[in-house]
Amino acid sequence: MKGRYRPFWLDESDNLVVLDQRLLPFEEKSVTITNVEETIEAISNMTVRGAGVIGNVAGFGVYLGARECRGDISKLAKFAEDIKESRPTAVNLSWAVDRVMDLAYKKRKLKEEEFIEALKNEAIAIADEDCLCSENIAQFGADIIEEIMLSRGLDSFNVLTHCNAGWLAIVDSGSALAPIYEAHKRGIKIHVWVDETRPRNQGANLTAWELLKAGIDHTVVVDNVGGHLMQQGMVDMVITGADRVTRNGDSANKIGTYLKALSAYDNNIPFYIAFPSSTFDLSILNGVEEIPIEVRGEDEVKFLRGVDSSGEVKEFQIIQDGSLALNYGFDVTPARLITGLITERGDCRANIDSIEKMFGDLL
Ligand code: MRU
Repeated sequence: MKGRYRPFWLDESDNLVVLDQRLLPFEEKSVTITNVEETIEAISNMTVRGAGVIGNVAGFGVYLGARECRGDISKLAKFAEDIKESRPTAVNLSWAVDRVMDLAYKKRKLKEEEFIEALKNEAIAIADEDCLCSENIAQFGADIIEEIMLSRGLDSFNVLTHCNAGWLAIVDSGSALAPIYEAHKRGIKIHVWVDETRPRNQGANLTAWELLKAGIDHTVVVDNVGGHLMQQGMVDMVITGADRVTRNGDSANKIGTYLKALSAYDNNIPFYIAFPSSTFDLSILNGVEEIPIEVRGEDEVKFLRGVDSSGEVKEFQIIQDGSLALNYGFDVTPARLITGLITERGDCRANIDSIEKMFGDLL
C-alpha cells in the first residue's frame, strides 16, 4: 500500500489492523478486524473515524465480507448494506462500499480465491488513490497559503482548523492538514490554532498529536475561542475537512464548523474546505435540508477521558445525573460562507457552476 502515514494496514493473514483512535494521544494500540461485524463495530464506535478512513475501512469490510460468505454474492450485498449503515453523515462510506460491490458484481464468476483477492486489491486501490488526493490537496492548498501571504505581506501564517482532518482521517497527510504539512515542508513559518472539538475532542486528542509528531507549531483552544481570535486578527485562514459536500457547495463537517464559518465571514477571513472528490454527494442540492446528520449517544457529552495526576487513563463524569445531553455529530456550513473548495483537481468556488465545471464527469 502507498503513502507514509496511514492508520490501518493488512497483517500477515490479510486481516485489517487499525490504530485505535479512541485511545490517542495517551495510548497507541491497534485492533485487528477480521469480519464484517467487527468492521461495523470499529466504524460505529469510532475506533476509526474521519470520512476518508471510514471509507477505506468500509471498503476493506466488503473484502472481509467476501472471505466470510465464500462468494455468495447476495449475502455479500446484505453485508454491504449493513456496513453502509454504520455511520450516516460521511458519504465516503457508501461511496467506497458501492465501488467495491460494483467490482464484486463484475467479478462474481471468478474462482473464490481470485474473487476475494480482487476485492482486497480494490480496497487497497481506494486507499492508494486517497494518498494521491491528499498529495494534490497539499500542493493546491499550500499554493493558496502562499498567495494569501504574498497579497497581505505576511512573513508567518496562522491557520485555524476544527476536528481532525489529518492522516488519521485521510491517509498520507489528510485533507485540511495536508496544506499545512506542505506549507511547513516549504519552509513557511506556520502556526495552527487547533479547536478542541467537543464532545470527542478530535482536535485536542488527534490533530494536536499529529502536529506534535510533525514538529508543527500549534496551540489547542477550546471551541468557543475562534471568534475572538478572528476578531483580534490572529487567524489568517480557516481550513477544515468535510464529510459530505453537495452540488451547490454546502458542506457537512464536525459539529461547530458552521460557527467558525460565520465568524470567519464576519471578519473577512478566508474559509476553505479541503476534501477528495469522493466526499461529494452531487445528488443533493440543499445541504441544510438534505444531509443526514448523525446523533450520537449522550455519554459522549457527559463523560471526558484523560489522564489523572498519576498518569492513569480515566473517564470522568462532567454532567450531573438527571440532566439530559444532546449530541449532534455534524453541522452544515452553507456554501455562501465558504471562500473555496480545495480538492485533488484544484480549487474552485463553492457554487453549482464552478462545481459542475470541475466535476461534471462525476454527475
Ligand atoms: O466524527 P468524526 O471524527 O469521524 O468526524 C470527522 C470530521 O468531521 C472530519 O473533519 C471530516 O471527516 C473530514 S477529514 C476526512
